[in-house]
Amino acid sequence: MAEKFGDYRGTFKSTSVPFEEAKELHEPIGVELANIHRHDAVVVGAGLAGEYAALELKRAGYDVAVITKIFPTRSHSTAAQGGINAALANLEEDHWEWHMFDTVKGSDFLGDQDAIELMVREAIPVVLEYEHMGVPFSRTPEGKIMQRYFGGHYTDFGRGPKVLRACMAADRTGHALLHCLWENCVKLGVRFYPEFFVLDIIAQGDRCLGVVAWDLVNGGIHVFHTKATLFATGGYARLFNISTNSRANTADGLAVMMDNGFPIEDLEFVQFHPTGLAGKGFLITEGARGEGGHLINDKGERFMSKYAPDKMELAPRDVVSRAEWQEIIEGRGIGGQEYLYIDLRHLGAEKIKERLPQIRELSMKFVGVDPIEAPIPIQPTGHYSMGGIPVDINCRVLADGKSKWLQGMWAAGECACVSVHGANRLGCNSLLDASVHGRRAGRDIAAYLDVVECWEPLPMDCAKKAIEEVEWVLNADGTEVPGKIREVMQVNMYRKCGVFRNEQELTEMYDIIKDLQRRYKNIRIQDKGLKFNLDLEETIELRHLLQTAEVIVASAINRTESRGAHWRTDYPKRDDENWLKHTLAWRTDEGVKFDYKPVVITRFQPEERKF
Ligand code: FUM
Repeated sequence: MAEKFGDYRGTFKSTSVPFEEAKELHEPIGVELANIHRHDAVVVGAGLAGEYAALELKRAGYDVAVITKIFPTRSHSTAAQGGINAALANLEEDHWEWHMFDTVKGSDFLGDQDAIELMVREAIPVVLEYEHMGVPFSRTPEGKIMQRYFGGHYTDFGRGPKVLRACMAADRTGHALLHCLWENCVKLGVRFYPEFFVLDIIAQGDRCLGVVAWDLVNGGIHVFHTKATLFATGGYARLFNISTNSRANTADGLAVMMDNGFPIEDLEFVQFHPTGLAGKGFLITEGARGEGGHLINDKGERFMSKYAPDKMELAPRDVVSRAEWQEIIEGRGIGGQEYLYIDLRHLGAEKIKERLPQIRELSMKFVGVDPIEAPIPIQPTGHYSMGGIPVDINCRVLADGKSKWLQGMWAAGECACVSVHGANRLGCNSLLDASVHGRRAGRDIAAYLDVVECWEPLPMDCAKKAIEEVEWVLNADGTEVPGKIREVMQVNMYRKCGVFRNEQELTEMYDIIKDLQRRYKNIRIQDKGLKFNLDLEETIELRHLLQTAEVIVASAINRTESRGAHWRTDYPKRDDENWLKHTLAWRTDEGVKFDYKPVVITRFQPEERKF
């Protein structure tokens, strides 16, 4: 093992305490403290945010390591299909100011406008940098990057028609970007620790000194001692049974921060993508509507004409998902069931094969429907977290959620809340957020490392909490099966904390979560081994999901208005007077505690949101 990772086994802190002594301190607990590694910076997560940051750090000459639960190219960014936004104006007039307005309006005016302005301005150099790094974008006849229509992207500050803004690599854009970053990281020699599951941060006072991780392949706890730590751990939409997310998206970063007493921002805002493959949730890209696909109910009607007569299928996602659910509630789902159709047949075989090959394949493989010949069954699906770990515009983690930096710690991508998405994210701003903020974080960390010379001493018992958790799960001798608990959580979260919410169902959901947390204390796993124990991993992930669900639901009960993706049927209006503010939530033993902070408004005053 030591040879494998070229480890640091010298001293636990620079001046004293040898590794063996620290190891002994943990030994009575049983699970082995296997190794202590030292790097300038550690990035947790190998999606776009993590890899972009790692690349920046390596370019700046720093020793950076990326820790990831899964193989890097399987990170969830690879599942993003439709595109990455940048007002390149390759095919039509566009401006970053229009992109900014659409993002602010899409966010239902909850996004922080200083951060949004930075993101949409930096979108242009970031996409061009991707091109120079070798991303195989689809091309216009002149050889420029191809762009497509997407929901919520319009001209002239929302007053004009739709605009081609989403830069695309067919319907595999995330895959193309992630593989390109991975190749560049490998070329420069970024160090990867694949199949390491981060269980804790080492937070001491107002500083983060590194992370503690479980080696999934060999078993054993590893300490990563760092000057800088970046969380890029992704989202949590596996807590819904219908979800676009991969099985790795289990809120690990959020849960670790909550475990350490830090707040999480705006968790009530969960995006449901309108077109998940019915019954499964897999993504059928919004690009399918961007290319001209129609949403159809049981009567064969293009029902969006009732809900967004001007923008139709290209209204923002919260609007389209609500329209679909309303059709289903009123009995116009296909055959009265909980799904509708997206019809692409009129696009023709050539366009479907060229622009949407992956969704054709998914549809044929998983529901036996070739979209060239028949409409695809779809339903709203858990997709994206607008909230997350509160950070400033340089991705520095805010220990109090407002202004106090947890020194040495950054967060970027879906696990973070800058906040550029407010109450509802614009399609194709997710790859953008991850890329822009991964790059920003990498640069900010490099600047920090330029002035920070040495590692702070580690507390001797820094791995104790993580070891105790692994020990507890391995030895738990109860009667409950973790997979069953997960299933109850997922099914109920989709029903009771989904597209439409109300106090009664949210309260019921909160009680269900509390009951599941009680049952979790009485679990037993089947696999008691240390090597590649997925039972162990999934059980710890379940704890992460349950506590994140608790905060989502508590925050949804707390916010008595409707805004963006948080739609309360008992409070159906947006309430700027009382709720034009961000939620900060702390999970404590006495329940979830709240505080608030103002929204940053620079260019665009809140207005009624009509489509
Ligand atoms: O529909 C999609 O292709 C998803 C894109 C996104 O979530 O930004």
